[in-house]
Amino acid sequence: MQKTECTRVLETANTYKVLAKEDLAPQIKLMTVHAPDIAEKAQPGQFVIIRVDEKGERIPLTLVDWEKEKGTITLIFQEVGVSTRKLSTVAVEDAILNIVGPLGNPSDIRHYGTVAVACGGVATAAAYPIAKALKQSGNKVISIVGARTANLLILEKEMKAVSDELHISTDDGSKGYKGFVRDVLRTLIEEGQSFDIVYAIGPPIMMKTVCEVTRPHGIKTIVSLNPVMVDGMGMCGACRVSVDGKTQFACVDGPEFDGHLVDFNLLIKRLKIYFPDERKADELYQNTEKNRHE
Ligand SMILES: Cc1cc2nc3c(=O)[nH]c(=O)nc-3n(C[C@H](O)[C@H](O)[C@H](O)COP(=O)(O)OP(=O)(O)OC[C@H]3O[C@@H](n4cnc5c(N)ncnc54)[C@H](O)[C@@H]3O)c2cc1C
Ligand code: FES
Repeated sequence: MQKTECTRVLETANTYKVLAKEDLAPQIKLMTVHAPDIAEKAQPGQFVIIRVDEKGERIPLTLVDWEKEKGTITLIFQEVGVSTRKLSTVAVEDAILNIVGPLGNPSDIRHYGTVAVACGGVATAAAYPIAKALKQSGNKVISIVGARTANLLILEKEMKAVSDELHISTDDGSKGYKGFVRDVLRTLIEEGQSFDIVYAIGPPIMMKTVCEVTRPHGIKTIVSLNPVMVDGMGMCGACRVSVDGKTQFACVDGPEFDGHLVDFNLLIKRLKIYFPDERKADELYQNTEKNRHE
């Protein structure tokens, strides 16, 4: 069938070409994508929702970096299930079907004084633009970057460039302090380092335990919540979380909240609801892909 001018325009408008792709760590990839409208408006703390192809689910990914002049955005993602595995197969010069954004409220970047940016795993990608903006606003930035093991550490060089101090921790001690990000933060506080605010970004259990470290010292702690999201626009309710006993939608009311008011146990419980289905879908997808390549 002959394509009309109108169809061609729509196709161009709705496809987001991948311009660069890089492996940062096992199963963690960086992608630079042409998305000028999003690059124009992006701010630290915001995210996009992508759909790889027509059969794809909508998944949220943080805006890690953007260049208005080039019209590009940078995404970093870990392959954990069907949609992120599918995304990792999109080659340079190919396109992602839909990207909606920027979504969510930008981080409240201002001059606080001394700020700790505590992050872990792939969430370092989400912490990086925040640390960068905090540094540009004149804060003293003390970053604590953690990972399970040394080869899963990402953006070390970039975090160092936007931090006054950078501390590394690994669960197995293969690099930096042996232990968790919260332990490094606790030690710094016990040694007399004062913080005006702490940003904690990582898996829910990491954010919960960082909040337990800061709570007794009354240090305001901002967390970026990662519930399952569908529309990303406050209509479906999938991302509901409980903050100060009230239901909030992380996509439009967050994703950042006062960590001392968040019900992390509920967040962790809700993230596990679809776990059996997600695992089944992932196994099916991986088997289908394997058979296709045999
Ligand atoms: C605002 C926001 C920003 C995010 N930014 C990033 C990012 O920059 N990079 C990145 O890699 N991921 C990010 N995530 C998490 C990402 O959206 C999920 O990993 C993704 O939706 C998983 O989709 P999937 O189909 O590949 O796996 P699924 O089959 O949906 O899930 C597989 C497993 O991954 C885990 N998982 C699923 N969803 C989430 C989630 N929302 N948070 C944590 N673990 C989850 C669970 O263990 C699940 O069983 C973000 C989430 C939110 C809410
Ligand atoms: S993702 Fe639907 S309300 Fe937030």
